[in-house]
Amino acid sequence: MRLDRMLVAGGFGTRKEVRALIQEGMVTVDGERIVDPGFKVDPFKAEVRVGEEKVMPPGRIYLMLNKPAGVVTSTADPRYPTVIQLLPPEYARRGVFPVGRLDLDTEGLLIITTDGKLAHRLTSPRRHVPKRYFVRVHGYLTGEDVKAMQEGIVLEDGYKCLPAHLNILYAGEISEAELTIYEGKYHQVKRMFARRGKKVLYLKRVAMGPLELDPSLPPGGWRELTPDEVAALKKV
Ligand code: URA
Repeated sequence: MRLDRMLVAGGFGTRKEVRALIQEGMVTVDGERIVDPGFKVDPFKAEVRVGEEKVMPPGRIYLMLNKPAGVVTSTADPRYPTVIQLLPPEYARRGVFPVGRLDLDTEGLLIITTDGKLAHRLTSPRRHVPKRYFVRVHGYLTGEDVKAMQEGIVLEDGYKCLPAHLNILYAGEISEAELTIYEGKYHQVKRMFARRGKKVLYLKRVAMGPLELDPSLPPGGWRELTPDEVAALKKV
């Protein structure tokens, strides 16, 4: 692949702009400065950098992030850091974006990709992709809550949720559970528990469709999805 094409694909500008970068001596290939825009590189083997910044090989990008609280699920925000800012800058250049949304204070599994088609499939309201959340709430969870969730909670605005599966892990003054929902309305989990008189104290997404959050990822940690994980998501 031509060096200038690799830089365009990596998001470093138009053909004209990246040629200027190369001719100005800004670009190295395996540590060597290259000033010929037509220089041939193997994009999957060569380490190409513009200044300090790495140039990513072409191809779709699929990542999982363990979103921490205090970070907004968006590509740009005037007030809060974004999930994209948790990644090395070469990903932002490639135009990655988050699939679906988690609230500012919600943690856990977020898929970040350049694949618009997959993002659409996973978030389409018609597909009912399951999303599993770990939740800590104020108040005793009981079999009545399980039943109500199964029957479909009617939210405060009159919307009747699809049946959801509540698995109580601990019942006490503060209870813990896993809740699986098949849709993604605004603040849905919090609003569902609010209708049961229980305030959500902590919320973390642990699975989306066939994809489970990697337990070795700390909050703010991320990794690329494996080919098997990507294939499983595409089957959704
Ligand atoms: N439901 C919520 O209330 N918040 C989230 O972030 C995700 C689901």
